[in-house]
Amino acid sequence: MSTNTESWGSRVGLVLAMAGNAVGLGNFLRFPVQAIENGGGAFIIPYLVCFLLMGIPLLFVEWSMGRFGGQHGHHSTPFIVGSMAPNGRLWKYVGVFGIFTNLAVAAYYCYIESWTMSYVYHTIVGSFNGSTQASVAQFFTDYTDIGVSHTGIPYEPVVFYVLCLLLNTWILSRGLSGGVEAVAKIGMPLLIIFGIFLAIRGITLTAGTDGAVNDGTVGLNFLWNPQFDSIWNAKVWLAAAGQIFFTLSVGMGSIHCYASYLRSRDDVALNAMGAGWTNEFVEVVLGGAIVIPITVGYLGIDGVREIVASGGGFGLGFQTLPYLFQQWGPILGTLSGVMWFGLLFFAGITSSLAMGTPIMGFLQDEFGWKREKSAWTFGLAVLILGLPTVIFYQEGVFGEYDYWAGTVSLVVFALLEIILFAWVFGMKRGWDEINRGADIQVPSAFKFIIQYITPLFLLAVFVFSLPDIINKLTSEQPMAVHLSRLLLLALFVGIAYLVRVAYYKRLREGRHIIKNI
Ligand code: ALA
Repeated sequence: MSTNTESWGSRVGLVLAMAGNAVGLGNFLRFPVQAIENGGGAFIIPYLVCFLLMGIPLLFVEWSMGRFGGQHGHHSTPFIVGSMAPNGRLWKYVGVFGIFTNLAVAAYYCYIESWTMSYVYHTIVGSFNGSTQASVAQFFTDYTDIGVSHTGIPYEPVVFYVLCLLLNTWILSRGLSGGVEAVAKIGMPLLIIFGIFLAIRGITLTAGTDGAVNDGTVGLNFLWNPQFDSIWNAKVWLAAAGQIFFTLSVGMGSIHCYASYLRSRDDVALNAMGAGWTNEFVEVVLGGAIVIPITVGYLGIDGVREIVASGGGFGLGFQTLPYLFQQWGPILGTLSGVMWFGLLFFAGITSSLAMGTPIMGFLQDEFGWKREKSAWTFGLAVLILGLPTVIFYQEGVFGEYDYWAGTVSLVVFALLEIILFAWVFGMKRGWDEINRGADIQVPSAFKFIIQYITPLFLLAVFVFSLPDIINKLTSEQPMAVHLSRLLLLALFVGIAYLVRVAYYKRLREGRHIIKNI
């Protein structure tokens, strides 16, 4: 029998936790890189169109699916998805994605989160003081090469990774209202305060002051000057779609899980909008006003492009900013470093906590495990899955997890779930679900968008991604990458097997997927 008695403490807590789930490292590290690689203002139009035609519809769908499943006692995607189809026997396996993705993404995501903890420490103890740009960049390279231990703590990345997992697990073991919600209530306001402080610094950067060569507004103009020619470039659209998935956490399964703890007449429409728009504010307004204006202010657009080409988001966030902050003097520089990595830490932890809840909900619902035992199981599973990303970071294992679990898997699950919602469950019932208890009038255009536009859009994203997927599978890779693929496959199959065991257990106990049949 289920031991799951979780519930949200307050509406504010729920929206902050949902916004915290969305607002993450992707907002501050991934978004600026996508924008720079895809032409700044050329990226913004496809990005906003993807938000309107895929992001918002998927938010409505996932919140409604979660609340629907929760009414039938399901708190993870296999049985939430299964409860919405006449033939739940097959569809429940589609829901495996919703546990798989969260575990695999948490494995490498918590690694980045652990860097932010370590970098707060190094900023405070002055590890970057007096360093050159090259030595700050080298610090990161050495840090992620666990064989080199020049930071003073032996096996430092492993130590901080384990600490980070312990912290996540402990918070999860305190439950939704006592743990997740409490962290969101503290972390989200702090994140926004730190973000506003750094954004003001970024925008008001002046050429000729503190060593800057450009005004902060040069970077802002690069981002916000629309260029319409990108509309015909498939690569830019794929990048924009990928960013929308990752940043909103749609196609992951964590939104369903959080929403499954709502009551049947709790609003989903306004709450989904509140969390989604908060994420966009943090991403395009705050996220867009920190990294790009500051780095372009010092290095120019071409200099920043070069760093992104060689080091991506980590090249800017970890290898460059700690050096640039120093140009602002010892006090402001240290304060800015602590705020930057502190902001990343809060952004990260409010998302990684959401990644823990699907597997916990599954174990509690299906096997009657206690919350604490489920939380520690999550922590252990992530440790086992994550250690290869820590140890073989430089062999590309980290990137491999990000590609399969953090990119491809999201598109596949989103495509299948929207087909389920609009075409199997049925758009009429689906629309009723979205509107039940709604505190806003959802524009009726979304009925058409959810039924036709979003599925076609997702199908197009999937089809256009296929050449890249095939190329990835057929190109030569180091042994560590091949092994990591096998590990991910084993994870998926293992979860599917547990879902099957749970299903037959339900049959034996007479617990149907839909309560009233
Ligand atoms: N939505 C989370 C992020 O942007 C996963 O990092």
